[in-house]
Amino acid sequence: MDAARWPTGRSQWITSAAARLDVQHWRARSSAVLTGIGSVLADDPRLTVRLDGVDHATPERIVLDRLWRLPADARLLSESGPILSVTGPDAPDRPGLADRVERITVPAHGDQLQLSRLLFALAQRGHNEVLVEAGATLAGAFVAAGLVDELIWYVAPKLLGSGARGALALPEPASLDEVDRWQWHSVDHVGEDLRLVLRAPLAAPTWAWTDGARPA
Ligand SMILES: NC(=O)c1ccc[n+]([C@@H]2O[C@H](COP(=O)([O-])OP(=O)(O)OC[C@H]3O[C@@H](n4cnc5c(N)ncnc54)[C@H](OP(=O)(O)O)[C@@H]3O)[C@@H](O)[C@H]2O)c1
Repeated sequence: MDAARWPTGRSQWITSAAARLDVQHWRARSSAVLTGIGSVLADDPRLTVRLDGVDHATPERIVLDRLWRLPADARLLSESGPILSVTGPDAPDRPGLADRVERITVPAHGDQLQLSRLLFALAQRGHNEVLVEAGATLAGAFVAAGLVDELIWYVAPKLLGSGARGALALPEPASLDEVDRWQWHSVDHVGEDLRLVLRAPLAAPTWAWTDGARPA
């Protein structure tokens, strides 16, 4: 993900074309690419693999969409390849969509789908590497729940100013002692940008499992 976001207006690329091409490689090696309905409504992404010389099947594209608001004309649906809508149990039926998109339900905790339950369901479907390409809301929820193994950040040499939004919506820690130290795994130039890969702290963070679904 980009390490910051442009605050207003239409979505704009901060990082370079080389960084976007690099993302395609991460998609290609994943068994699933997961996003939130917020990103679908804002950007209308395809989430397909578009790499010269790579011809294998597109990873399953998964949208977390508690109320099943996926637009029937979303670009996701115009591309071939499997799509999975993950909704809450109370989402309305969408007869026009149900024959084009597989749907599973996971329990909600308040207004959030339980991410640990989601990951159990994805493991049962055989997924072993899930790439989350989501906005700050869902990406932050995954990190806050302690469910992320690796963060891939792209940093452009651009100073956006104090109006720029963070890429992760996280609860504010009461003190710096509560903040986990991630491990640097790699730092690489990708075109004009940097790609930073961080690995999760070994110990579970103190605020893990905030989605209320910690297994017994
Ligand atoms: N920096 C990057 O690399 C990057 C990547 C992708 C997108 N973006 C940008 O992010 C923006 C959209 O961000 P966003 O925050 O609105 O959308 P988002 O994080 O992609 O999706 C958020 C939505 O996911 C649903 N959701 C279901 N379960 C959830 C859970 N447990 N926790 C959190 N969300 C859950 C919620 O909608 P329901 O309650 O309706 O289910 C929530 O509003 C766009 O402007 C896009 O350009 C940036």
